[in-house]
Amino acid sequence: METVVSGIRSTGKLHLGNYYGAIQNFIKMQHEYNCYFFIADLHSLTTHPTPSDLHGNVKQVLVEYLAAGIDPEQATIYIQSDVPEVAELYLYLNMNAYLGELERATSFKDKVRASPDNVNAGLLTYPVLMAADIIIHKATKVPVGKDQEQHLEMARTFGNRFNRLYNNEYFPEPYAFSYGDKLVKIPGLDGKGKMGKSEGEGNAIYLSDSPEVIRKKVMKAVTDGGPATENQQKPDEIQNLFDLMKVVSTDDTYNHFNNLYNTMQIRYGDLKKQLAEDMVLATAPIREKINDIANDSEYLSRVARLGADKARESARKTISEVREIIGFRSF
Ligand code: TYM
Repeated sequence: METVVSGIRSTGKLHLGNYYGAIQNFIKMQHEYNCYFFIADLHSLTTHPTPSDLHGNVKQVLVEYLAAGIDPEQATIYIQSDVPEVAELYLYLNMNAYLGELERATSFKDKVRASPDNVNAGLLTYPVLMAADIIIHKATKVPVGKDQEQHLEMARTFGNRFNRLYNNEYFPEPYAFSYGDKLVKIPGLDGKGKMGKSEGEGNAIYLSDSPEVIRKKVMKAVTDGGPATENQQKPDEIQNLFDLMKVVSTDDTYNHFNNLYNTMQIRYGDLKKQLAEDMVLATAPIREKINDIANDSEYLSRVARLGADKARESARKTISEVREIIGFRSF
């Protein structure tokens, strides 16, 4: 059975982008593959969370994984820092990761632009740690959103380089995966780029947002003065609303509003109201479970311990083989 690995950073509440880009695939894949889904708390250190943030955010992601329907009996759910073998593999891979290729990563360039005062080495080697996460379990499929495509390419590079260096076929190649083949990019409500945690207040709809908050955010989304001609191409901010509608609403609803747009009869207020209600519906089953799960500390510790044990077993095996391949000997 093929192995699947994916993770989400513990930097705050999960949003619709995380859900449609990643978690929706996790839930389906757990029944078909040998799955490892983790909380990337080491990666979150690259942007300096405080200890209290770190703990709360790890718990938040764990709770939301479970509320969304990841089953700890089907998939291995763990916290990245509970598996120190990942950090060891990261160290080995770092020895053969080069400054030029790391500096060229789009995510690194974006981070440098956004926070020039915090260009730490962890940010630079972020894709190396990500490669270690994936290949430590010898995964071949990695369910992620479109923004992670380049990181997967780099994971293949680092795994292949290890194989070539030590003249073996140890690590298989991991590929980004999504049901329906196309990797997903969920737009934000600000009319510009993708939905994200750090893209500004109001841009993201969180899985834990109340119906009132969802309605308020959607009603504030940027629109324009309406189409000037029939069947015209939609400007970005309008296209984004339609893209969101495509994922949360039925085809009939989408087609209805698309026809209204194309015949210049659209009323954005109606479109937003419908979109908000469909988002409320789509998130309801998750939202309703979040509080109960969050209050059950015993269950959460049990899940984290079980996951750590299973993930460490797989990681230990890889690390002992890697040590052997590299040439470390115990005396
Ligand atoms: P993170 O925490 O930024 O995002 C977690 C997952 O959510 C997806 N995602 C989106 N998908 C579609 N549209 C969006 N607007 C959107 N926003 C976020 C991301 O593509 C991702 O799948 N580097 C990873 C965490 C990580 C990881 C790994 C993933 C660490 N090690 C190993 C896979 C395998 C990240 O930044 O996730």
